[in-house]
Amino acid sequence: MPSLLIKNIGNLVNTRSSNELLRGDKLAVLPCINNAYVIVEDGMIVGYGTMEELNHSKNVIPENSFDAKGGMVLPCWCDSHTHIVFAASREEEFVDKLKGASYAEIAAKGGGILNSARKLAATSEEVLFQQALKRLDEVSRLGTGAIEIKSGYGLSVESELKMLRVIKRLKQQSNLSIKATFLGAHTYPEIYKENHQGYIDLIINEMLPVIAAEKLADYIDVFCEQGFFSQEETTVIVEAGKQYGLKPKIHANQLHLSGGVQEGVALGALSVDHLETMDQAAISTLATSDTIGTLLPGAAFFLRMNYPPARNLIGEGCAVALASDYNPGSCPSGNMNLVVSLACIQMKMLPEEAINAATINGAFAMELQKEVGSISIGKIANLIITPQLPSLAYLPYAFGTNPVEKVMIRGEWIN
Ligand code: NIG
Ligand code: FE
Repeated sequence: MPSLLIKNIGNLVNTRSSNELLRGDKLAVLPCINNAYVIVEDGMIVGYGTMEELNHSKNVIPENSFDAKGGMVLPCWCDSHTHIVFAASREEEFVDKLKGASYAEIAAKGGGILNSARKLAATSEEVLFQQALKRLDEVSRLGTGAIEIKSGYGLSVESELKMLRVIKRLKQQSNLSIKATFLGAHTYPEIYKENHQGYIDLIINEMLPVIAAEKLADYIDVFCEQGFFSQEETTVIVEAGKQYGLKPKIHANQLHLSGGVQEGVALGALSVDHLETMDQAAISTLATSDTIGTLLPGAAFFLRMNYPPARNLIGEGCAVALASDYNPGSCPSGNMNLVVSLACIQMKMLPEEAINAATINGAFAMELQKEVGSISIGKIANLIITPQLPSLAYLPYAFGTNPVEKVMIRGEWIN
């Protein structure tokens, strides 16, 4: 691939010469360069600076150029929490809820995660793969360049492995950077409702050894929540996963003070995700740990729940990332532009904070900070190009409008 110069960039956003997980006041510091250029070679960022510097440069300037015409260039979004392998949407439950059905009534009708699991069991690996590939294409056009994908709609040995094999194929097929998370402990399947130990044994003795042998996962996740997996059950499952080298990322404190945050931190989790329900003890524990708090405002929006207390988390020094939670039950959207808007509108994050949380901190939440998450020499050329915009704050402000004009993944334009 010949090298490419992207010139006349109005604002080149999130330029960094080193990687640091951002917490506290640092989250609001977003380094940018006005009137800038970027040079891309072999899918990597090899140079950037001001147009002024380019004009005085003695280095060879690529013949191929793209004129950004004053638009902004950002690093692609790093979406560190999704469930994009699923067999069917669940808008019928959505309508039932609009009509007043409760969570329990929906569950009694076979709804929720178990509904997705039934449909997934009846769908072939090939069909699941094609559907998920389409969703990857959809989110990449909205600016996502790196993504974490969970299993968890399988809930049987066969179906969990099927999901993880789909994710493995996505890794091989897609230009996006992908991390796979084993979420066998998403809920108890019907037949193990009264026999939790039976399902935990299945996870530990039947699923994990195959996952390790086929290298199907990077991380292990547990839905630590009342009515799902207790703190004790979470520990047993995560410890077993760690034996196979899987680091934990935990669904914590979504509906209740589940103890998931403290448990996740104690288990050395890379991230604890959701955090809609927090108290001072959970915030303090997270703030003094290396664990990232991943906020999913799309899920709180869709479920009409309280949003995570982002201002308190940031104020107390927690490292915060933003992700979509794209899934058919609690957030049927993978649009990270909207996630960034919701973070500002509903959680009062500043535009700079939200962009950092959705790029560099999201990259850290997938251990991909050396590859993606900022405009840095040697990182993959995953770039979002916008039209000329009044300012950076216009991005979250103009919610629901698509600010993405073009996307480059690994040095290739995808649209
Ligand atoms: O992250 N909280 C648990 N799991 C998913 C949603 C599950 C579903 O309803 O399909 C989430 O919100
Ligand atoms: Fe989730």
